[in-house]
Amino acid sequence: MKNDRHSFSSSIGFVLAAAGSAVGLGNIWRFPYLAAKDGGGLFLVIYLILALTFGFSLLTSEIAIGRKTKQSPLTAYGTLKKGWGKLGIAACIVPMMIMPYYCVIGGWVLRYAVSYIAGDWTATAQDGYFTSFITSDIAPIVYGVIFLGATCLIIYRGVNRGIEAFSKVLMPILLVLIIGIAIFSLTLSNDSDGTVRTGLQGLKIFMIPRLEGLSASDFLVVIMDAMGQLFYSLSIAMGIMVAYGSYVKDDENLMRSINQIEIFDTGVAVLAGIMIIPAVFVFMGTDGMSASGPGLMFISIPKVFLAMGSFGRIIGVLFFLMVLFAALTSSMSILEAIVSSFMDQFSISRKKATVTEFFIALIFELLVCLGYNKLYFEFTLPNGVTAQILDIMDYVSNNILMPIVAISTCILIGWVIKPETIIEEVTKNGSGFGRKKLYVVMIKYIAPIMLLILFLQSFGFFNFLLG
Ligand code: PHE
Repeated sequence: MKNDRHSFSSSIGFVLAAAGSAVGLGNIWRFPYLAAKDGGGLFLVIYLILALTFGFSLLTSEIAIGRKTKQSPLTAYGTLKKGWGKLGIAACIVPMMIMPYYCVIGGWVLRYAVSYIAGDWTATAQDGYFTSFITSDIAPIVYGVIFLGATCLIIYRGVNRGIEAFSKVLMPILLVLIIGIAIFSLTLSNDSDGTVRTGLQGLKIFMIPRLEGLSASDFLVVIMDAMGQLFYSLSIAMGIMVAYGSYVKDDENLMRSINQIEIFDTGVAVLAGIMIIPAVFVFMGTDGMSASGPGLMFISIPKVFLAMGSFGRIIGVLFFLMVLFAALTSSMSILEAIVSSFMDQFSISRKKATVTEFFIALIFELLVCLGYNKLYFEFTLPNGVTAQILDIMDYVSNNILMPIVAISTCILIGWVIKPETIIEEVTKNGSGFGRKKLYVVMIKYIAPIMLLILFLQSFGFFNFLLG
């Protein structure tokens, strides 16, 4: 074990860094869409229950593994239990796969932010703009590399002057921006096509539970959607929380920090819903709400800003800056999981590790960008989606590797080293462990079974049940 390891200087520094990782594109472009699709308030309630049980258990485990071993994801699992080093390798491959394409998407966000700031923003609302941008030769590469470079510079500055310092500035600004835009969104109304639609009506679609006509299989879909979203949203199973946990001081109250991280992540997801659903509903009606992911962020939302008239540009600037900050604090955490792994495994400096990963990510980033033009091909994933290189990397990391890492972590903790090891780590400084029994049952039985179902369903295993 190394004793020259840096640590977060304060508990708020750790909470904001971890929340910075958790709050990302998933909160903004998937959570609101899933809630609107899956029965509004029904999805919210199920999501909250799962966050307090399932999410809480996995998050606690990973952070505690980090703090206990004081090791990076690559080396932590083997340190914890001889023979489990392979799990560390898997937990390190996940962020290495995500990093290149996350930076490409970060580059898209940067491009849009620049458009709104520079004044040529109305172009982004034209049909075909997004496709022509991402299929162009040079621009997506340039913006993606700027985003990757910025992330590397921050991580190169280290745990305190990099991750902690930037999270402490960016996360509060993000919170203020999202609250401001959400309030604005609720005041909107529009009757351009003869029917009056208001922001408050949109809020109802997002918040009020819709149970009529709900079949058992619909209910199952809601649970699966909530679980998949939660898992991704808390940045679990990609080594990140192990890396950040390894920088938490031994006298820190872990349980309190974990609760705060969960509240922050869920709060921002709900605020994103209050911001997006009413705005899209007011200007595009319920049809507009069928988009999620890039289609929502880069095609529908610019049209909403255009429809807002004179306010559109300023709200657009604030919105894309907010998304940029969310994406940057997430990409910082992905890179830190990799850099800390290289440092611990190969005993190299932070500088060397960062530069090495910069070039690895650069090569794959070029491939991802070329996947939309020179290397374009169509590939159908097991879930029926037509995919390019970006989607394939996303699918393999999210649907295959992450569930494997998470299930293995549950087995390692629940059955090999035993949950008591984690409970001991959390409580070793005298701080409490709320929901202790729940944690044990979750990590031994319920979480691995739920994860297995999620994993199998990503290959359509239970489609026959879902009709
Ligand atoms: N948790 C982030 C979100 O909700 C996503 C993320 C993915 C963060 C991968 C880090 C790494 O969007």
